[in-house]
Amino acid sequence: MNYNIKKIKLDFPIFKKKINKKKFVYLDNASTSQKPKIVIKKQSEFYKKQYSSINRGIYKLSNINSNYLEEIRIKIAKFINAKSPEEIIFTNNTTESINFISNSLTEKNINKNNNIIISIMEHHSNIIPWYILSNKIGFNIKIWNINNKGELNLNNLIELIDKNTKIISITHLSNVLGTLNPIEKIISIVKKYNIISIIDGAQAISHKIIDVQKIKCDFYLFSGHKLYAPTGTGIIYAKKKIINKLNNWKTGGGIISNIDIKNNNIKKIEFINPPWKFEPGTQNIESIIGLGTAIDYINKININNIINHEKKIINYTLKKLKLIKNIEIYGSKKKTAIISFNIKNIHCYDIGVLLDQNGISIRTGNQCAIPLIKHYNTTGVCRLSIGMYTSKNDINKFIYTIKKIIKRLK
Ligand code: ALA
Repeated sequence: MNYNIKKIKLDFPIFKKKINKKKFVYLDNASTSQKPKIVIKKQSEFYKKQYSSINRGIYKLSNINSNYLEEIRIKIAKFINAKSPEEIIFTNNTTESINFISNSLTEKNINKNNNIIISIMEHHSNIIPWYILSNKIGFNIKIWNINNKGELNLNNLIELIDKNTKIISITHLSNVLGTLNPIEKIISIVKKYNIISIIDGAQAISHKIIDVQKIKCDFYLFSGHKLYAPTGTGIIYAKKKIINKLNNWKTGGGIISNIDIKNNNIKKIEFINPPWKFEPGTQNIESIIGLGTAIDYINKININNIINHEKKIINYTLKKLKLIKNIEIYGSKKKTAIISFNIKNIHCYDIGVLLDQNGISIRTGNQCAIPLIKHYNTTGVCRLSIGMYTSKNDINKFIYTIKKIIKRLK
C-alpha cells in the first residue's frame, strides 16, 4: 500500500501551526505524540453530547458510558492480543503502572532475601519505584549492563540470575538508544526460573505489533499519549493467573462490594473482581475514549504500514546523520524510531535551542535515563524520535538545519 504521508499529516491539525515562524517539524515523539483530529473531535463530542460518570449511576448516560468503556477495554485487549479484556487495567500512565505493579506484588512474590533485575537502559520510572520499594523491603536490585554494541547480552542475564531472583522489569524499546530488546528470548530464559516478567512498553507500543500471548510476559505496560491518544491513560496488561494475586495499591470508591462494621470497628471489606478492583476513583473517561479512537485510527491505517514507513524514515535519518563530521551516535546500529547523538564540543542544549528557533523540536538532556547517559560518559544527548507522520521532508529539514548549526557554533 502506498503510505499517504501528506494525507496523514493533514489528519493532525497541529502541523498547520508555525513554530518560531517556521514550518513545525516535530521529532520528540518518544516524549509524547501529536493527536489526530478524529481523537480531538471525539473528546469534544463526548463533552458536548454524552458526558457523565461511569459505574455509578443507573441513568441512561452513565450506563451508555460504562458500557462504552468496557468496549474500549475489549479493543485494547485485541490491539495487544491479550486473551481477555479482564487482563487490562486502566491507570494514568506508564509511570503509575510501574508504581502500581511494584507496590501490588505480595510478600510471596518478593522479600528481603530476594533480588530483582533491571537493565541499565531503563527510564527512571522503571528504576526509582523499585529503589524506593527495595529500601522498604530490603531486596537487592541487580543492574544488567549493555555491551560495547549498546545491546543487552543474554549470557550476562543468565549470569545475573540466581535462586533468589524473583522479578525482571525491563524496557522493550530503549527511550534513548532506539534499541529493541529481544523480549521473547528474555522471557523464555526467565520463565525457566519462575521469574515474574514486567515489560515497559511505553516506547514500543507505537512502533511494533505487540502480541502479549506471543511475548508470554506477565505484565506489559504502556501509555495512551505515545499512541496518538490524550494524556492521562495508562494500560497494564496483567496475565490472568497473576492478576488475581495482586494487592490493591490504590484504593477508594467504586471498587468495593461490601463493608461490615461491628462494635465501632471495620470488620470486613470485600472488593469487586479484577480488573475493576484496581481502578478506584473516577476514571479518566474522556482520555480512555480518546485512546479507543486513536486505536481505531491506527487500525484503519494499519500498524504494519506505519512500521514500514517508520523503518524507511529512521534508516534514512541514520544514513544522513552518519555523514556528519564529529557526530557520536549512541547504542546499537539498528534503530527503531529513536536516535540519540552528540556533536563533539557542542552542548546538546545549544543544538536543541537552535533547532527550536528553526521550528524543529527534539529532546535534549539526560532523557530520564541518567545511568545510561553516565555509561556513555556524558551528561546529556540530543534525541530525535519519529512518529507515523514524520516525512522525508521533515528529516531533510532537520539535517540541513543541524549542519547549519554546527557551522555556526564551530
Ligand atoms: N518517557 C518519555 C521520554 O523518554 C517522557 O521522553
